[in-house]
Amino acid sequence: MTAQILLTGGAGFIGSHTYVVLIEAGYDVVILDDFSNAEVCVPDRLEQLTGKPVQVMKADVSDAKALNAVFAAHCFDAVVHFAARKSVPQSLASPEAFFSSNITALLTLLEAMERHHVKRIVYSSSATVYGAPEALPIPEHAPLSYTNPYGLSKLMGEQYLNQKTRSKRGWAAGILRYFNPAGAHPSGLIGEAPLSNGGNLMPLVAQVAKGELPCVHIYGRDYGTHDGTGIRDYIHVCDLAQGHVQSLNLLLQQGRSHTVNLGKGRGYSVLDVIKTYENVSGQQIAYRFKPRRAGDVAASFSDPSMAAAVLGFEARHNLLEMCQSSWRWETTGRMGLHRPAAFIPDHFPAAPAQHLQL
Ligand code: WQD
Repeated sequence: MTAQILLTGGAGFIGSHTYVVLIEAGYDVVILDDFSNAEVCVPDRLEQLTGKPVQVMKADVSDAKALNAVFAAHCFDAVVHFAARKSVPQSLASPEAFFSSNITALLTLLEAMERHHVKRIVYSSSATVYGAPEALPIPEHAPLSYTNPYGLSKLMGEQYLNQKTRSKRGWAAGILRYFNPAGAHPSGLIGEAPLSNGGNLMPLVAQVAKGELPCVHIYGRDYGTHDGTGIRDYIHVCDLAQGHVQSLNLLLQQGRSHTVNLGKGRGYSVLDVIKTYENVSGQQIAYRFKPRRAGDVAASFSDPSMAAAVLGFEARHNLLEMCQSSWRWETTGRMGLHRPAAFIPDHFPAAPAQHLQL
């Protein structure tokens, strides 16, 4: 019997890539997405990629009525939950929206799952739950904190799920702490196309490479890193998608809850990303240094050994492949799609003067 999966946010960046891998793994998948941050053409492209009709329901995951309808119409074995807001800077600008989307909606989803006896969930968490890390690389048992409302919303979601799986018989959750997703599907048909500019680095670098923005603003050049710019653990979105399927397999086969980092286990700086993107695109990428961005940490990269041990997961793609696949997407599949308003980063609050040194 083929397992049935509800994929919330399945038309989004990571969700759409996970959809492809789920179908390839033999799962039946229904996408639920409100398309607030996803292009309407994505389901058609997913059909092109998988050769199968796409089942999609346009709805907000916080809409209890819509959730009951979709659960009543299908016999789901598990939920893979992506539908949430994820921009660190935007969470500083409007924290209430993040708690509504990332917490209230999660509780509504879990109530619907309970009502329909669906007790397996893969949950998108984030490296931001580590706050400003005390040591690198970051293992799962590192102290948890937050430096922005986005990180707090993810931490609260994790805590609630941990409480649920401990107190409710039969429940199991895969909590996946993403580091920095980047890149795109090798076909160039799907990729990162934020409808609102979340301020993520690689899409902005790509826009500068395409001549759609004059330059990249580099937030901070005085961090304690090799070149003074922020370091992050970039992980290819196709590797991230694979990690979700491995988490889901563990939940369905063994009913075993787990919390793991999904990262490459090494960090790249902002300037590393810009230089690699220049090599890949053949375009010079102009940049200007600006004050540090509030909510940012100096450096963050994962200890990926738990995901390897528990899931057998390994992120195989490197930064060059992330930039190559991003550039292919930006210059083929993304051409002509909606572009977010030109990003004016200065309205993001600058970080306070204190130094977040490692
Ligand atoms: C990366 C680096 C910035 C933009 C992300 C996701 C978040 C979560 C955690 C999944 C930092 C610098 C950026 C720019 C810059 N992922 N930068 N100029 O903040 O690490 O958070 O990972 O859950 O959803 O947003 O990612 O791409 O915004 O920043 O200098 O215009 O690039 O300071 O060092 P971040 P990011």
